Amino acid sequence: METDRLVIAVDGPAGSGKSTIAKRIADILGLEYIDTGAMYRALTLKVINEGIDSKDTESILELLQTTSIYFKDNHIYLDGIMVDDKIRKNIINKNVSNVAKIKKVREKMVEIQQKLSKSSNIIMDGRDIGTVVLPRANFKFFIIASVEERARRRYKELIEKGEKDISYNQILTEIKRRDKLDSTRKISPLRKSPESYEIDTTNKTIDQSINEIIDIIKGGN
Ligand code: DC
Repeated sequence: METDRLVIAVDGPAGSGKSTIAKRIADILGLEYIDTGAMYRALTLKVINEGIDSKDTESILELLQTTSIYFKDNHIYLDGIMVDDKIRKNIINKNVSNVAKIKKVREKMVEIQQKLSKSSNIIMDGRDIGTVVLPRANFKFFIIASVEERARRRYKELIEKGEKDISYNQILTEIKRRDKLDSTRKISPLRKSPESYEIDTTNKTIDQSINEIIDIIKGGN
């Protein structure tokens, strides 16, 4: 376990609320926040912009060689351009699992994530943070919610961002498909590590979930 710094791993499926929760906890406890999903999303954005099929592993690996992805002041940059909004589009949601299952893509992202975690007190969210990226984290949380609730949240988020031509049922189907891809892939599938605290956000407000987590961290158990 880390002793000189506070390192927190947060994992969970799409729409579980993990990013919202991790961001707020970072603010409350003064930690650096790293959204690892944003990194896979940024690469997926480039794949789409370049007209590459998200299943074309060879072309994606070639693209990876000349791609720079980094965070600055809590924003995500792709080849020097801030892409916070562009990576949240539904076309990215649809393709990101294909990109994220490629072994060499994961190796590169994990390497960057582990480097980022070395210097400060940090909270990082994703799918494999507690299991692969930060196995020595002081606290690990696994955030869940029913698939219907997660689809409702994602649908609302997309509508609020102005996406048209989407329906709740379509989003529900997509989330189920993504859950399956993320949890059955060969490398670093979405999995709860035995020492993780499971937090079910289905019938809770964000504040209730956050308080539950802060109590665990402050309790030190
Ligand atoms: O958390 P998110 O929806 O922004 O993640 C986008 C995709 O990236 C998701 O389908 C799974 C993948 N991902 C991953 O494989 N490993 C991570 N550590 C984070 C995200």
